[in-house]
Order: sequence, then C-alpha cells, then structure tokens
Amino acid sequence: MKTVEVRSGSGDYRIHIGPGLLEQTGQWLTEIGFSGKLVVITNPLVRKLYGDSLAQSLEGSGFETITLEVPDGEEQKSLDTAGRLYHELTIAYAERTTPILALGGGVIGDLAGFVAATYQRGVPLVQIPTTLLAQVDSSIGGKVAVNHGQLKNNIGTFYQPRAVITDTGTLKTLDRREFNNGLAEVIKSAVVWDRELFAFVEQNLSKIKSLDNDTLEEMVVRTAKIKAEIVGEDERDLGLRSILNYGHTVGHAIESASDFKTTHGEAVAIGMLAAGKISNRLGILDRNELEKLQTVIVEAGLPTAIPDLKMEKIVEAMRHDKKIFHGKLRFILPRMIGEVFISDEVSSHLLEEVLVG
Ligand code: NAD
Ligand code: GLY
Repeated sequence: MKTVEVRSGSGDYRIHIGPGLLEQTGQWLTEIGFSGKLVVITNPLVRKLYGDSLAQSLEGSGFETITLEVPDGEEQKSLDTAGRLYHELTIAYAERTTPILALGGGVIGDLAGFVAATYQRGVPLVQIPTTLLAQVDSSIGGKVAVNHGQLKNNIGTFYQPRAVITDTGTLKTLDRREFNNGLAEVIKSAVVWDRELFAFVEQNLSKIKSLDNDTLEEMVVRTAKIKAEIVGEDERDLGLRSILNYGHTVGHAIESASDFKTTHGEAVAIGMLAAGKISNRLGILDRNELEKLQTVIVEAGLPTAIPDLKMEKIVEAMRHDKKIFHGKLRFILPRMIGEVFISDEVSSHLLEEVLVG
C-alpha cells in the first residue's frame, strides 16, 4: 500500500492506494476521526461487486452504514438525482457530521461529491474510486458537479474529500473499454508532466494490460501524484490545472459530435494525437516524440483517427466547449513528452488540416 498527499486550501488529505484496500476502509475512517453513522452512495453494479467488502469493513470498525443507490449512467449526474438523494439523506437523519462515501466511478464520485458539498452546507466526503479514470483523475482535486441541460459539469463546485481510498484490485472487474478510458488519462498525465511515467507505461504496457497488481499500483500512484502536484499548485483551476485538459479540446468535440458513441478516453486519445500533430506542424514537437505518442496510444488499444465524422460537426461542438477562451479555441500543446504549453493561436486552417490529414 502507498500513500499520496494532496495539499488544498480547505485542508490536506491522503490518498491510500493498493490492492485489497476496501477491507481496511473502516480502520482508516476511524483513524481520521469518524464514528457512528456513514452514508455510502453507489450504483447497483458496484454495490453488487464491492458493497459487501466495504460494509463488512465499516461494520467491523463499529460504523452504522446506510447505503443509497442510484442507477448506473452519466444521466444520473443531474439535479433531479441530487434532489432525490437529499430527500433520502433527510429521511435517514443524516447530520452535518455524517460522512458520505462515494463508492464507484467518476459519475458516482462527481454526483455524491456534489451532494456532500451542498447537503446541510457540506458534510464530510470520502472518495472510494473503482474505475481507472476515477482512481487517477476524478477522485482527486475536489471538482464535483452535475450536468444541466446539454451542458456537462455545468453546476458544481470545488469540494475536497477528507480521504481517498483507492483499491486497485477493483480494476480487475472493469470492462476493457472502461479500463482503456482510464489509460488515456494516464497517458495524458504523463505527456503533460512526467516523461518518466510515459517511459514506465511504454515499458510496462503488457503488464498493465494483464492487470499485474504491482504494476497497476505503481501506475496509479505515479499518476495520482501528478494530479496531486498540479491541484496543490492551482486548486481552483485558474492557470496550471488547465493543462489537464490536454487532448480534451478536440476530444470533447468528438465525443459530442459522435453522440457519445466514441468514449471519453477514445476521444481524448485522438485529441492528444491531434494536438501533437499541431505542435509538430508548428515546428515545436519533434517527429520522434510524435511517433512515440502515437505508438503508445495504438499499443494501449486506443484509436488515433477520427471515426466517420463531419468536420463541421466537430468544429461546431468545439465552439460550445468550455475551453473557448475570449472567443478563441484554447489548445494544450506538447513541447516534448513531459512538457506542454497553452496556446490560443491555433488557426482553424491548421486544425482542419490535422483532423482530416
Ligand atoms: P462511470 O462512473 O460511468 O463508470 C463506468 C462504468 O464502470 C459504469 O458502468 C460503472 O458502473 C462501472 N464500474 C465502476 N467501477 C467498476 C468496477 N470496479 N468493475 C466493473 N464495473 C465498474 O465512468 P468513469 O469513466 O469512471 O467517470 C466518468 C465521469 O467522470 C464523467 O461524468 C466525467 O465528467 C467525470 N470526470 C470528473 C473529473 C473530475 O475532476 N471531477 C475528471 C474526469 C472525469
Ligand atoms: N480533470 C481535470 C481536472 O480535474 O481539472
């Protein structure tokens, strides 16, 4: 088991990472000072897989556990579902000191986090991420939100958890496509911040794909550290944190233009390569570096090309994206693997050339 520290304006917290950690959750929650009643928010699939292990650990440490379920799916990240959860929390006599445990992927983490941030003006939150994406990205850094209308994550706040408990053993039951979604975010973090992590992924891809315990733990720890460092420097996303959007300008547009048939990770992979090509054509990213990036994406099982999509649809989707800054598209471009810069100067001509070429 390893730990990563996160510094935040509302208090520092620890991420515990390793296989089999769900069984130790009760002990850690006791150590950080919780007692009595706890509320677990999860979905039926994750509950069936991991609800019992968590409940046994919590009950073994003397906690009274109430479990609230929401159906699986992105559409549950809504004010309607949050409203239902507030009602159920009230019926369960949850108080301001009653912690909420978010057991699941990024959907549960964002929704339960939003509810924890707003119920009775904020109750303690513990993230227990069970997808690779949630373990390396969404459970860290305090962004909690629901979607509103067509807009993703449009209603939300920053609300840091009191702890993150990351059981890498839960990755063994993940669907391959979901695993690859998370792998795209690992590659993203490596390209923006950590050349050594990129080399680690390159060298260990077969062990990563065969879900070797030590390799997964190492990969999640290294990626979680990157997010912790970036959030520690720019918790409120006013500058540096935006580099985590590398691959997302084009990625989000592909996701929405494909009516979400292309998954987030697949779209980000295509977006990362597109940004790499833009940087290469601007004479910044070396061709060897671009080829390394492309090879890792392909070997990870992620796509590099845009599925059969109309350019106008993608460009239109980009215009609606939150990454438009003062009317211009904002790109995070790699200077080399491990270092990126922010550019508001990519012409639509170059963008089009890269997307169709
Ligand atoms: P998800 O939460 O929908 O989970 C994907 C699927 O995997 C679901 O069907 C889920 O039930 C299932 N699942 C979860 N754990 C499992 C396990 N261990 N074994 C088998 N199945 C399991 O999707 P996600 O990719 O984890 O998260 C996506 C969400 O995260 C989006 O809503 C996105 O906006 C959000 N997000 C937030 C941040 C942030 O900083 N807050 C960052 C990135 C993404
Ligand atoms: N996933 C981007 C961020 O947390 O800022």
